[in-house]
Amino acid sequence: MRLFSTLLKHVLYRLDNLAYKKWNNQPFSIKPISNKEKYYDLWTKASLKNNPEVNQYEETTGYKIENDWLNNLALRTQIVIKKSELNYAHGKILYSSLREYISRNKTNLENLVILETGTARGFSSLCMAKALNDSNISGSILTFDVLPHTKKIYWNCITDHIEGPITRQELLEPWKYLVDKYIIFHQGYSNIELKKIGLQRINFAFLDGAHTYEDVLFEFNIIEKHQEDGDIIVFDDYNEKLFPGIVKAVNEISNKFGYEKKIIKSFNDRSYVVARRTC
Ligand SMILES: C[S@@+](CC[C@H](N)C(=O)[O-])C[C@H]1O[C@@H](n2cnc3c(N)ncnc32)[C@H](O)[C@@H]1O
Repeated sequence: MRLFSTLLKHVLYRLDNLAYKKWNNQPFSIKPISNKEKYYDLWTKASLKNNPEVNQYEETTGYKIENDWLNNLALRTQIVIKKSELNYAHGKILYSSLREYISRNKTNLENLVILETGTARGFSSLCMAKALNDSNISGSILTFDVLPHTKKIYWNCITDHIEGPITRQELLEPWKYLVDKYIIFHQGYSNIELKKIGLQRINFAFLDGAHTYEDVLFEFNIIEKHQEDGDIIVFDDYNEKLFPGIVKAVNEISNKFGYEKKIIKSFNDRSYVVARRTC
């Protein structure tokens, strides 16, 4: 039995390497996709976009992330070459929602726990880290993605031309103080890794990884067991046309599990949902 288990461990190790091979070896491209000027141009256009409903939401919560800080972070972590329009308003939603959550619960909070699926380049994790830091509160952000944290890759972003292939750790170097203080990066498929974690409470979560009905419900089912009245889950891409699975899952969650949902519309049919547990 012991021999069999040792053998299985070796097989598992090899399978694991194989499963992540495509993510560890230049998942975006083997060379820079475009030039520095193009990324700057996209950045300027994206930073000028107006989001009336998102602005309104910020006002309702009473908290608004600093624009310059957000735009600087976006340049390294959001401005990529892709078909759909660039939109990083989720950073604003996360910051305002988390700060409001903290202000509501401050007297009961010691070590706030945040769980995120879909780290990508680290943008959303850092917006949440800034909310913790600006609120002067201790906490941990546990973030999952199939992408590696310590492998040098081209990220399809402005650093590709200046710094060549770099790790996510290097990409986020300008925000090292926030990364070191709050964020724990974990490489892995959420439907394999989430069930292995041992957390008492998940105060706040952001689900932005796999965009299917099954995956979102799977992630939710793990998270909700660790949430209490008032705790929050934010969902990105609540869009019937592009992501019907997310819409179906979020609607079910709010109908069956007592999560009150607030839908915030952005431009280009992109919407976010802030779901608050009510029992
Ligand atoms: C839309 S991006 C996340 C964007 C990020 N939250 C941000 O603000 O920049 C989705 C990410 O989820 C990751 N992902 C997709 N399916 C996943 C899964 N099953 N488990 C873990 N990560 C996944 C992808 O690799 C990708 O980086």
